[in-house]
Amino acid sequence: AGNRTFSIIKPDATRRNLTGAVTKKLEDAGLRVIASKRIHMTREQAEGFYAVHKERPFFGELVDFMTSGPCVVQVLEGENAMQRNRDIMGATNPAEAAPGTIRAEFAESIEANSVHGSDSDENAEIEIAHFFTEDEIVG
Ligand code: CMP
Repeated sequence: AGNRTFSIIKPDATRRNLTGAVTKKLEDAGLRVIASKRIHMTREQAEGFYAVHKERPFFGELVDFMTSGPCVVQVLEGENAMQRNRDIMGATNPAEAAPGTIRAEFAESIEANSVHGSDSDENAEIEIAHFFTEDEIVG
């Protein structure tokens, strides 16, 4: 029940074998993984996904990082899924993330911050469509 959001477990987390630990945090927060796949993003995929950040000074490094190893892309379902996911992720900068959040516990830096989550319901649907077809999503 509820609605959907989009999540990425980033290369810093997959490298440290934290896919399960991060997913457990999501599940314990009341989210259900209704689609999941492990991918190694191409530069084109990463640049397209983060196109909104193209003019930011960190864009090049962000694309390098996101293509540095595997990611796990997921569709999450739950009541107020987008906000629920943002709450359990914590602030972008792990130094500012609340205790108990994924970024507070696992993130290495503001860039290598372990997870991405959609920032609006509208963006969630756009981001889901970037990586999944509807038949890959099983609620
Ligand atoms: P994410 O929520 O995926 O959105 C953009 C990403 O850019 C962010 O998480 C970080 O991984 C990365 N990033 C690197 N430097 C910064 C910065 N100074 N401010 C915001 N995001 C940054």
